[in-house]
Amino acid sequence: MPEQQLFKILTLNSISSHGLNRFPAERYQTGHDIEQPDAILVRSHNMLNSVIPESVKAIGRAGAGTNNIPVDAMNARGVPVFNTPGANANAVKELVLASLFLAARNLVPALQFAGSLQGDDAALNKQAEDGKKRFSGIELPGRTLGVIGLGEIGRLVANSAIRLGMKVIGFDPKITVESAWSLSAEVKKANSLEDLLRHSEFISVHVPLLDSTRHLINNASIQLMKHHAIVLNFSRGAIVDEDAILQAIAANKIKTYVSDFPSEKLQHQKNVITLPHLGASTTEAEDNCAVMVVDQLIDYLENGNITNT
Ligand code: MLT
Repeated sequence: MPEQQLFKILTLNSISSHGLNRFPAERYQTGHDIEQPDAILVRSHNMLNSVIPESVKAIGRAGAGTNNIPVDAMNARGVPVFNTPGANANAVKELVLASLFLAARNLVPALQFAGSLQGDDAALNKQAEDGKKRFSGIELPGRTLGVIGLGEIGRLVANSAIRLGMKVIGFDPKITVESAWSLSAEVKKANSLEDLLRHSEFISVHVPLLDSTRHLINNASIQLMKHHAIVLNFSRGAIVDEDAILQAIAANKIKTYVSDFPSEKLQHQKNVITLPHLGASTTEAEDNCAVMVVDQLIDYLENGNITNT
């Protein structure tokens, strides 16, 4: 009997066992210390400056963004990079919706304030009166949300916001024809990015990080926004020019910036909420991404089929 091929898979991040268990154990070896791997499985680990062994035939990204992988260099070597668009979209959408409420109701400063109060119940209630005034918020129905980028996540956010009673304007430079507008009919199509920025009270960014989208939100675009706009960034930190957003917050032009990306510049800044890149961190999303990417790797390594690169 001919000896069966053993595929070696190097995992650079922890990947859900729901995915890893799909590798048939008799034909696959997986681990963090694999030498001469046939494929690499990665989540957010930054591979941009790593030397990727010549033995690697494919890279699987358990997630949508591939900006942590040298995709062009790999493609030039004939190495496909697989990703999992949509597999974690619901998780990101839920965190975006949570953040709309968080920002609208000033929950972060309100929680900090409540945690700092001292005294007996009577004293706490007296101090709470001050908090009630300081952290009074706004409600979402009737408010306008601008969604920039209408891929899997942007579409879910837009359609859900409509169900919350918000008005939604969408813009995606790639969707130029009306027939591709596969969104709730109530989501209005902005004529341009500028149009969206001018009319939105909340702005949520859902474009991939490319040369053309780096600092998409900058001094000039912020100037077009409404007074006291709330900006949410669950795509990539570098889509927003942090100096510009901090200046706009200091000038009282932007009310709150919510970013799912930790950054030294944003640390401890007033009216800035940062999260530790939590968008896709749910049990369901981690399982979905791992299953999808592992199936793609198996199909490629064993059958040469290429999907979602
Ligand atoms: C993504 O691009 O889908 C996210 O970065 C996923 C993750 O958190 O790994």
